Amino acid sequence: MKTIHISSPGKEYRLLLGEEPCPVPGRGEVLIRVAAAGLNNADLLQAQGAYPPPPGASQILGLEVSGTIAALGDGVNGLAVGARICALLSGGGYAEYALADAGSVLPVPSDVDLIHAAALPEAAFTAWTNIIDTARLKAGETLLVHGGTSGIGSLAIQMFAARGHRAFTTAGSDEKCAAAEALGAARAINYRREDFVAMAKAETGGKGVDVILDMVGGDYIQRNIEAAAPWGRIVNIAYQQGFRAEVNFAPVLSKRLTLAATTLRARTASEKQAIRDALRQEVWPLLGNRIHPVVARVFPLDHAQKAHETMAKTGHIGKILLSLT
Ligand SMILES: NC(=O)c1ccc[n+]([C@@H]2O[C@H](COP(=O)([O-])OP(=O)(O)OC[C@H]3O[C@@H](n4cnc5c(N)ncnc54)[C@H](OP(=O)(O)O)[C@@H]3O)[C@@H](O)[C@H]2O)c1
Repeated sequence: MKTIHISSPGKEYRLLLGEEPCPVPGRGEVLIRVAAAGLNNADLLQAQGAYPPPPGASQILGLEVSGTIAALGDGVNGLAVGARICALLSGGGYAEYALADAGSVLPVPSDVDLIHAAALPEAAFTAWTNIIDTARLKAGETLLVHGGTSGIGSLAIQMFAARGHRAFTTAGSDEKCAAAEALGAARAINYRREDFVAMAKAETGGKGVDVILDMVGGDYIQRNIEAAAPWGRIVNIAYQQGFRAEVNFAPVLSKRLTLAATTLRARTASEKQAIRDALRQEVWPLLGNRIHPVVARVFPLDHAQKAHETMAKTGHIGKILLSLT
């Protein structure tokens, strides 16, 4: 099968088209004929040699795909060969065929484009488990999602706006703010010109926001604490501006805040299945009507290098995909 090889892993890595034997599904796994693979920042880090795959995972890049089921391993029930699906992977997505644990597979409704569905798994799993499982967002509570036009932000805003929450967001240009509001954000501000702490207070009558999903870190750590409501929960999925900050914890104490951070990739198959089950019940019924994959660009597989360079420039709105068809 066609796949992408990392030549000279490191800062100057090159992604080249190659050939590898097609994988064979083991017990509890499905083999997917890949229609498209979603790009993630983790792929760029892995290609640079900075983020090795967890033990047992494919060495091939790619943490999410859409496609059709080509074969079922032993013990897989409730899925059929030929079904349109998308799946979270522990690796192996940049290839004609990929293996997924059956518990990480979700159906693709007939009114959702199969290629565009590759934009869904990583963003949906990450947004759901951090905002619901970790930050325990409750009905009627407010949400601040930083990076509102990122792959994760663009889906998170739709998911939680559709569930009735007022979702506020930040983005790096006025065009991106308009896009985030079109996705359902109650208010989007250009973080290069406006202060999100002031926005969070103004939009909540001075109370602050109940839950914050942050991918920025650095000086946002203190500012998130200032923007949070009493009993607020702040969860980080990345620290793009740095893991280190000098923090005044007094408002954490006085406002009874919770600070958390999580990663998805290294979680067990059963932990991922629990997230998949919740998504299927709570979010997937809204797919194709209230929630849509947001796709910035689709590159053919053999343009993976160009796709990575586009991702690294961070001008995109939504997800960047590699098409196999
Ligand atoms: N922990 C986990 O389980 C997990 C899972 C998946 C992804 N992640 C991480 O989550 C992050 C987002 O992933 P993605 O795929 O959605 O990436 P992405 O599409 O490349 O988005 C990165 C976003 O960060 C935003 N950003 C950068 N500086 C900002 C600032 N000062 N204020 C507000 N926003 C800022 C960018 O906004 P502008 O372009 O508008 O500047 C951009 O939208 C990545 O760092 C990724 O590694 C973590």
